[in-house]
Amino acid sequence: MSYNANSKGYYGEFGGAYIPEMLYPNCEELRQNYIIIMQEASFKEEFEQLLKDYVGRPTPLYFAERLSKKYNTKIYLKREDLCHTGAHKVNNTIGQILMAKRLGKNRIIAETGAGQHGVATATVCALMGIKCVVYMGEIDIERQAPNVARMKMLGAEVRPAKSGSRTLKDATNEAIRDWINNPVDTHYIIGSVVGPHPYPDMVARFQAIISEEIKWQLKEKEGRENPDYVVACVGGGSNAAGAYYHFLDNENVGIIAVEAAGKGIDSGESAATSALGKVGIIHGSKTLLMQTADGQITEPYSISAGLDYPGVGPMHAHLFKSGRGEFISITDNAAMEAGLMISKLEGIIPAIESSHAFAILEERKFNADDIVVINLSGRGDKDLNTYIDHFNL
Ligand SMILES: Cc1ncc(COP(=O)(O)O)c(C=O)c1O
Repeated sequence: MSYNANSKGYYGEFGGAYIPEMLYPNCEELRQNYIIIMQEASFKEEFEQLLKDYVGRPTPLYFAERLSKKYNTKIYLKREDLCHTGAHKVNNTIGQILMAKRLGKNRIIAETGAGQHGVATATVCALMGIKCVVYMGEIDIERQAPNVARMKMLGAEVRPAKSGSRTLKDATNEAIRDWINNPVDTHYIIGSVVGPHPYPDMVARFQAIISEEIKWQLKEKEGRENPDYVVACVGGGSNAAGAYYHFLDNENVGIIAVEAAGKGIDSGESAATSALGKVGIIHGSKTLLMQTADGQITEPYSISAGLDYPGVGPMHAHLFKSGRGEFISITDNAAMEAGLMISKLEGIIPAIESSHAFAILEERKFNADDIVVINLSGRGDKDLNTYIDHFNL
């Protein structure tokens, strides 16, 4: 069985490009060119140079000694929190801005929820001197004010999405509307492995640098390229796709995906898509989606804005449905406790999204000689106020 996209963008039954006619030329232009461009020597050279000198790659693969002792297994952390701008999101925005330039685009649009992808997009637009518009739900603009300020300092225009629940899903709708109206000069930088083909595959390829590095770093440290398990949190699923990418076809490497259970899977306030979702179409892709009996999208909830999405990318829907991936969901409270634990035990304050991945250590037992790589997708600076409120710090 294949766990990568086929030429039409399907992962098993999931994926594809369910788009309005008006969007077809844009997606088709990208589909016809993305692999050719990514394979050009000059593209590879520029991408790798920027990842090294601007983003700060390779990010360390850090053996977490105290954490390993506590859970009696060998735990390595892939330090995406040390990327410029504070999370893995920038790997993808560097790739897509170079893609946009080669396609002759001079205007960039993006959607953002927590603001990490918005900041990563505004950053690369500043770097390249390209006009940038970021759509963000009105509610998220209020609760993620520091990231809104960062985007503005970087020269981006932040446009509020005022419809629906006024969060990520609605910002994505606005961005797609903008793209339909500006098909010639504008490239839409999607921030996760979601959206119509070729986005899920393209974003996964840009994030694949994470597992490419894990392989040689683990070889150096342990004498073998493959861990026993790779663990990552899943919002749309881009950090997870990058961490799994080079291990997908090796069934000896266990893949663990961690979703947000919010206040509990059965609480009505959750974002545990694999547990609650049914097949549906969102933002141009066929995937698992939280929806009502008559197919209306259910409002998701998680304490972490980055996991607060009603679907998952098609790669993850396929990993779930095929049984290749093990899916675990973690409540707000368990994630917050894990974030505090990692801070005190390892001196690293994780993004709340990443804290969800650490929380599985309380419930999922590993053998003493297992090598477990946990993708630390981002740093907790953006979440300090949420940690302060939660723990009365
Ligand atoms: C630090 C961090 N981790 C994870 C995510 C979730 O996104 P994805 O599932 O695409 O990695 C986000 C999204 O904003 C994030 O900021």
